[in-house]
Amino acid sequence: MTVRVFGIAEGVREMERIAIALLGCGRIGRMHARVLARHPGARLAAVYDVLPKAAAETAGELGVPAAASAEAVLADPGIRAVLIASPTPTHVDLIVAAARAGKAILCEKPIALDMERVRACEQAIAGLTPTIMLGFNRRFDPSFAAVRQRAQAGEIGRVEQVVITSRDPEPPPADYAAASGGIFRDMTIHDFDMARSLLGDIVEVQTMGACLIDPAIGAAGDYDSVMVLLRARSGALAHINNSRRSAYGYDQRLEMFGAKGMLVAENRRATTVRAATASATECADPVLHFFIERYAEAYATEVGHFIDCLQSGATPAVGFTDGVEALRLADAAEESARTGKAVRLG
Ligand SMILES: NC(=O)c1ccc[n+]([C@@H]2O[C@H](COP(=O)([O-])OP(=O)(O)OC[C@H]3O[C@@H](n4cnc5c(N)ncnc54)[C@H](O)[C@@H]3O)[C@@H](O)[C@H]2O)c1
Repeated sequence: MTVRVFGIAEGVREMERIAIALLGCGRIGRMHARVLARHPGARLAAVYDVLPKAAAETAGELGVPAAASAEAVLADPGIRAVLIASPTPTHVDLIVAAARAGKAILCEKPIALDMERVRACEQAIAGLTPTIMLGFNRRFDPSFAAVRQRAQAGEIGRVEQVVITSRDPEPPPADYAAASGGIFRDMTIHDFDMARSLLGDIVEVQTMGACLIDPAIGAAGDYDSVMVLLRARSGALAHINNSRRSAYGYDQRLEMFGAKGMLVAENRRATTVRAATASATECADPVLHFFIERYAEAYATEVGHFIDCLQSGATPAVGFTDGVEALRLADAAEESARTGKAVRLG
């Protein structure tokens, strides 16, 4: 039998582990729970979901307590932070309650679906100064981060154009589309944040939207195919293209083009194997199917960044203001699609 001696250094590390609770154990919440459970700097202290079954499943899988309510989580002085992964309409109330309880917050995107609610949230937490981070996971994708860093280091000279491609493998159910706040606030919001992180302030938005895939999405008043043009304060232009359906899987690519060249991040595949046969050459694996697989590293790095910030006292790289600005761009894009006119932002 091996007796495990708990050394002083290990004991200190154990004490420094940040106790984080998860609110919302759905698609993305379960994935975050697994990341938190295996991070050496964190302790998944509790999980909560309004559906007790969902909380019990995640709690059982990871051997952590299922809390009886969000209030119980927030009242626990041993819990330092919460990761909010519940549906978007619940974010503002949970952010405000968590900030009032003195908890640090990592909240999934978007903050809310309308700016009035976001501003009310901002006012409610003003003065409480919680550490707050928004879940714009794509900033933490290693390839996209490398493109940004290399462009910022001057490798392609003055940046003139950015092309962001984001196409989902299949459309969501029509009832999801109806409650999602529309494609710009639900899906393109990631790309607006990416454009801002690459180019800084955006001053003009011009959009076209269409319903080409699922008539039910159109009937719900939404688009399933959009193209967005952005002009940055620097003068650079960006093009975002989104589709709710891509026959070949989750299409996630990024291109930055400048005076001295181009940086491109291509799609990810399960392996790098390529086949050549009598009928085709250069045949590769399909691209990774959807966000949980494609951005696995990005989600882990995002949560790791939040934990690092809590340990060091640093401000997270993606904050509340980034959530506000991405929503401002989503609102402008929606207005442009509806009116057919470009929208200028201050
Ligand atoms: N960053 C990303 O890549 C990404 C991907 C998907 C979803 N999201 C965001 O994550 C959030 C959740 O999306 P999802 O797809 O996981 O949804 P989901 O419906 O699969 O899961 C949400 C869970 O939250 C629970 N819930 C509802 N109200 C709650 C409350 N008040 N407190 C605690 N739990 C509550 C639900 O019962 C459900 O289990 C949304 O805001 C969405 O925009 C982000």
